Amino acid sequence: MNAKKTVFVVAAVAGLVQGLAEPKCDLRGCAAESADAAISNGRANSVRIETLSAGWTFRSEGETAERSVCVPHDWGIESGFLKTGTCPAQGDLPFVGKGFYRRAFDGFTPPPGGRTYLTLDGVQCRSVVKLNGKAVGGRPFGYASETIDVTGALKDSGNVLEVEAENVPASSRWYPGSGIFRDVTVRVCPPDHVKPNTLFVRTIEANEKSAQVAVSFEWRGGVSNFVFSVENPRLWSPESPALYDLELFGEKFRYGIRTAVFDPQKGFFLNGVHRQMKGVCLHHDLGPIGAAFDRDFARRQLALLKEMGCDAIRTSHNPPAAALLDLCDEMGLMVMDEAFDMWEERKGDYSVFWKDWHAHDLAEFVRRDRSHPSVVMWSIGNELVEHNDKTPERPIRIATELNSIIKANDPTRPVTFGSWKSAPMWNGCQNTVDAFGANYLPFKYAEFSKRNPKVGLVATETSSCVSSRGEYFFPVVASPIAGEGDLKRRRDEGRTHMVRGGQMSGYDLWGPHPNDYPPDVEFEHQERNPQVYGEFVWTGFDYLGEPDPCSKSGGRSSYFGIFDLAGIPKDRYWLYKSHWRPDEPTAHILPHWTWPGREGEVTPVHVYTSGDEAELFINGVSQGRKRRREYEYRLVWNDVRYEPGEVRVKTWCNGKEWVEDVVKTALEPVQVERSESRFGRITFVTFALKDRNGTVCPNADQVLAFETRPGTRLVSLCNGNATSREDFRGSSMHTFHGLLVAAVEGSPEGLTVSTSVKGSDLIATVNYHSSGSL
Ligand code: GAL
Repeated sequence: MNAKKTVFVVAAVAGLVQGLAEPKCDLRGCAAESADAAISNGRANSVRIETLSAGWTFRSEGETAERSVCVPHDWGIESGFLKTGTCPAQGDLPFVGKGFYRRAFDGFTPPPGGRTYLTLDGVQCRSVVKLNGKAVGGRPFGYASETIDVTGALKDSGNVLEVEAENVPASSRWYPGSGIFRDVTVRVCPPDHVKPNTLFVRTIEANEKSAQVAVSFEWRGGVSNFVFSVENPRLWSPESPALYDLELFGEKFRYGIRTAVFDPQKGFFLNGVHRQMKGVCLHHDLGPIGAAFDRDFARRQLALLKEMGCDAIRTSHNPPAAALLDLCDEMGLMVMDEAFDMWEERKGDYSVFWKDWHAHDLAEFVRRDRSHPSVVMWSIGNELVEHNDKTPERPIRIATELNSIIKANDPTRPVTFGSWKSAPMWNGCQNTVDAFGANYLPFKYAEFSKRNPKVGLVATETSSCVSSRGEYFFPVVASPIAGEGDLKRRRDEGRTHMVRGGQMSGYDLWGPHPNDYPPDVEFEHQERNPQVYGEFVWTGFDYLGEPDPCSKSGGRSSYFGIFDLAGIPKDRYWLYKSHWRPDEPTAHILPHWTWPGREGEVTPVHVYTSGDEAELFINGVSQGRKRRREYEYRLVWNDVRYEPGEVRVKTWCNGKEWVEDVVKTALEPVQVERSESRFGRITFVTFALKDRNGTVCPNADQVLAFETRPGTRLVSLCNGNATSREDFRGSSMHTFHGLLVAAVEGSPEGLTVSTSVKGSDLIATVNYHSSGSL
């Protein structure tokens, strides 16, 4: 049968498609009114898709009582921290063990001849799925999305779905999360429908006048392929993420029209225009809510990144939640979609299952994600142990196989891997992929492209700079402009001068590993090498686990983020923003200027600006005017001596006045101010301890205690302190360098905060509502 005749295709409905309906779910237990929320993108007589969020019960191994939970769920983050030092690499959180989920499962019988599919988008990990007592599925890989045809296992009524998960110690180099941590959906289909994970929509060619789009999919009539044209298409890009609907058998699928050309010599072209990806690596966790995927927390992360000028993410180092790719499509972020952190050699649990599962998992991953316009590259793995082999036969064999699995399912996108070793640049491994992924190898870009003219190059990981928001240590030793030969000295000096008491200095000059370097170094090498497809900074946000180099000094989350775990920007944010959004007037001074006891001491001042000239003033006295040289990305006044008062910077761009920044010495805290930003159902409220002039007090942290009124729910608290052991789910928390973020569901006006300063009358108790003042 000719699919074109039987399939109803609406190919050219231009314009942004709105986000899907949100499943309503209480992250601390299901809200009473929360029912299964339908994501209905089909019609009643066609495909019906429902998300199973409420209605689950859960117990962990050893418990007899079951409790109600919502899915996505992460049992590890729920119980608070373990004893410090238990498993800092995994966040000192209790993710190990078994968990058992159960849910009544009715009303999903398909019409005669139809099918019902169950999709579990991620279960950490080693899952077993049973329907009515019969095993119907399961995956060893926690990040694998699994779709099961459950038609044959359904009863007319009284169905019970059970999911078991098991996490073993050291299963991952970071906090993996635990349990059903991503969406569970049911898709009930009439006899004619697109079979799961078979659709592939791709642009063959496109310009502003017309586009050719190819579609293929499987249905009960076999495989269908067709091509259609779109006149005057709106091309998808980060700046204009236009999406279209394609309707097949009454079910809507979204797609985008865009071209992506990767030329090893000339670089990356999106819709015919050269650009280098300004990307960040993202771990899967969402900070204080752990690994349980939440669209609004993810939406906030992506929005903050875009505001900085970021246009791409790398899903380090595993398949992302499908919903994250929907958000990237909608919001306009390109994606390097990464499959694995290991192959057959152990770096975590998955290597145990590699032999039996890798081919299947990789193919399913590509088939799930290949129709997203946001996905521009595939990565078959990160820093593989096999690349350390004395001879390259094994990594060549494995990468060749993985690349061919990808190409069989998507011949259109380039494949890469991330390597921090330089040997694979020259020993034949580079020829197993379309683009070599360089982790921390900026000094080799030019040589690589010269010696490998047919292999592309992308900076899969860059910088690995560490900092704690609001911490600055003296003397400031490491130089911002380091050459290759300086790296060992910089690492050793850095350990002495940049790390104190579980915190990192915020001068953005240092990373804990031998290859790490400040962001500025990468900027230069990207600029000098336009053939490089772009960079992916390690990392966009701090994440749970991997607290290098403070796993022995109380760290429980990482320090690599441009944003801290609460999503508050560290100083580095303005360094990236200045470089990535050169047209946006930006000037930012560091450090803060409240240093009682440092009077007269050298206190270097760094300025991040998109301007090209700046003059610094301490209490009105000029410290000199400086001009940025070529390949210089920050302006530094190294000899400034601290005196209380005010640091001001005035900047210019092309000879014209640009923008100023001012930092003042804080007095005693006398007020708590709030600012809010809303993403979907969640309002993120930042609380700041301020003095009477409105200056944030960086050294006067204290506990903020919260209460909520009916209609308002406190979802999480986070202050961005990587050593804090305060419960993210509690009702009080210390500020960290004056700040703290509360995530609130419902009306933010119903959140009340109180605090008091010991021994001071200045703040007795402050209570306030939405007005922002005390
Ligand atoms: C890289 C690795 C990342 C992370 C980072 C920390 O080598 O690929 O996953 O561990 O180091 O600097």
